[in-house]
Amino acid sequence: MNSIGVFGLGVMGANLALNMENKGEKVAVYNYTPDLTDAFQAKYQRENIEAHYQLENFVNSLEKPRKIFLMVTAGAVVDTVIDSLLPLLDQGDIIMDGGNSNFEDSNRRYRNLKEEGFHFISVGVSGGEEGALNGPALMPSGDREAYQQVAPILEKIAAQVDGKACCSYLGKEGSGHYVKMVHNGIEYADMQLITEAYQFLRDRLDLDVKEIAAIFEEWNRGELESYLLEITSDILTHVDKETNQPMVDVILDKSGQKGTGKWTSQNALDIGVSLSIITESVFMRFLSTVKEERMVAEKELTGPNQLVEEVDKKEWIELVRQALFMGKICTYAQGFYQYKQASEQYNWDLHLDEIALIFRGGCIIRAGILNEISDAFKENKELPNLFFSPFFKTVLNNSQTALRKVVIKGMETGLALPCLNASLVYYDGYRSAKSGANIIQAQRDYFGAHTYQRIDREGNFHTEW
Ligand code: 6PG
Repeated sequence: MNSIGVFGLGVMGANLALNMENKGEKVAVYNYTPDLTDAFQAKYQRENIEAHYQLENFVNSLEKPRKIFLMVTAGAVVDTVIDSLLPLLDQGDIIMDGGNSNFEDSNRRYRNLKEEGFHFISVGVSGGEEGALNGPALMPSGDREAYQQVAPILEKIAAQVDGKACCSYLGKEGSGHYVKMVHNGIEYADMQLITEAYQFLRDRLDLDVKEIAAIFEEWNRGELESYLLEITSDILTHVDKETNQPMVDVILDKSGQKGTGKWTSQNALDIGVSLSIITESVFMRFLSTVKEERMVAEKELTGPNQLVEEVDKKEWIELVRQALFMGKICTYAQGFYQYKQASEQYNWDLHLDEIALIFRGGCIIRAGILNEISDAFKENKELPNLFFSPFFKTVLNNSQTALRKVVIKGMETGLALPCLNASLVYYDGYRSAKSGANIIQAQRDYFGAHTYQRIDREGNFHTEW
């Protein structure tokens, strides 16, 4: 009998199956259409992987309670696959969904399957193809008892950091997919922040691509250490064989997206938290797509477009480094704030320190500062905002001048730096005891009699303006 089944043999599913077999599991695999099963069979001959062409045989080859890991396209396909499996399963069997599913769909699937006597586990999976094969970050949620039954497999195939698996039970319902969704939002913002640092160094300090690759490599050896900075440095060393230009110069500047960043922002609006940095990164991807309009606008709309002149480049490179680090901290602060609010509003009991530990390995946003983030929430479970942890407070207090200088210089020279800018706006807004919302309350009361509260006594008040 096989200990686990993998449904879906795209690259991610195939690599997860290979990973499971490498770690000693007996794996059954199945794909909806036979072509991918054929391709898998032709490419890999593994003693402990059994490929099936009949769904019934696939299901019957599994030990009970059956454990089936779905790695299929997120969306309606997941429901179709679950519907096709259910008549073949027994009570207590476990279905795991490893796709980038919307957490609200996962909540619904969890409840429906529970009602029918099955277990559903949402598993956020990060790390791309390579991670799936050698150790992804896994973010599972659902019923804890069901998780205990799959934990030995999931924790074995996950990335390991300091002897700890980048996988642990996160919370109820579809919270695992929620955690993955916000992970992707942070990923978007982190990518945009690195891009803004690159643009400043290239277009304002006039450094060439090779120089920037070396700078990023050096930064990556310090507090900015992260997978995304590492790959960006590597990307910048690549040359296009046809034109002999840096690869980045021949890639069209229109960005794609599959939607998880957008969902993160939509949810922030739903639960009422400020998520300006991630949202700016989503908007910048949209703005990037109107390349043809931007090309016309560059000719027709005026504004400065100049180098930062007569400056000590070394000094500015250091300012950009500090600004990037602060932008990154502000992004994580907003993302983890969103986790905290969601956990309360959805009653999930998420452990923020555990989430940070999971992110240390295997996933796209793995970074040095995740240890500090985890420590901050471990030391103080009630920490309202990462900004208040002693470590991050010191960094922010020391870097805010650098971020301010870079943002101002960007504005002065006509370079859009939306995520760095949003980071500073969030920082300044958050540290302002007086917000200006008293004017908004007065305006609301003026035109709509919406009432306001006073600073000196309880109650709701209205003025005949
Ligand atoms: C990961 C990635 C992965 C995928 C994103 C890309 O954690 O492994 O986030 O899930 O690469 O979905 O997202 P976009 O296509 O939206 O940039």
